[in-house]
Amino acid sequence: MIETKRTIIRPIEHKDNKQIYSYRSDSETNKYQGWIPKSLKDVNEFISKNPTEFNKPESWFQLVIIERETDKIIGDIGIHFIDNDNFQSEIGCTLSKIIHGKGFATETVGAVIDYLFNKLGKHRIITSIDPENKSSINLVERLGFRKEAHFKQSLLINGKWVDDIIYAMLKSDWK
Ligand SMILES: CC(C)(COP(=O)(O)OP(=O)(O)OC[C@H]1O[C@@H](n2cnc3c(N)ncnc32)[C@H](O)[C@@H]1OP(=O)(O)O)[C@@H](O)C(=O)NCCC(=O)NCCS
Repeated sequence: MIETKRTIIRPIEHKDNKQIYSYRSDSETNKYQGWIPKSLKDVNEFISKNPTEFNKPESWFQLVIIERETDKIIGDIGIHFIDNDNFQSEIGCTLSKIIHGKGFATETVGAVIDYLFNKLGKHRIITSIDPENKSSINLVERLGFRKEAHFKQSLLINGKWVDDIIYAMLKSDWK
């Protein structure tokens, strides 16, 4: 569990399904995402796939963000433990639309980055973003990520070939 001033970040659980469905099924807000659930069943399958072990090489682990004030789930953060040596991770964040623009993503993704570098000893963290996803680009630049690559039409998302920008940060870049 990771705590920030306004939130608690913990592993996803089955009882979270309805709250996750409510914001993840918003296809307009999540138009740059590869996964948009069409039913609660999709969310249940997504939760079932979460590994039991955190920090397992070659796995995606899903965390949820709970706002302390309301005790409600306001979003989630996925961590991809990329390689077998387990020194590199990928990160992704989705917030409920009703909570955008209040600094919750900066606060929580920042705390997870800090955990990955300083508690788990990661060397490098990356994130993959659609170039049209301006709020996501603003978020990672605000956090200090560096743009390292722009791949042309390298991902097929919702039936459309889209570009992919890779941002990265080294442990030595983190404050
Ligand atoms: C990507 C995403 C999480 C960013 O959310 P966000 O609300 O823009 O980011 P934050 O929560 O950090 O809020 C930052 C904004 O709040 C403002 N803000 C207000 N209080 C703040 C505070 N205490 N600290 C920092 N920023 C604050 C900032 O000025 C900034 O405003 P701006 O967007 O006008 O520049 C969100 O757009 C999202 O969920 N999108 C859909 C899912 C998605 O595409 N995810 C990316 C793929 S991994």
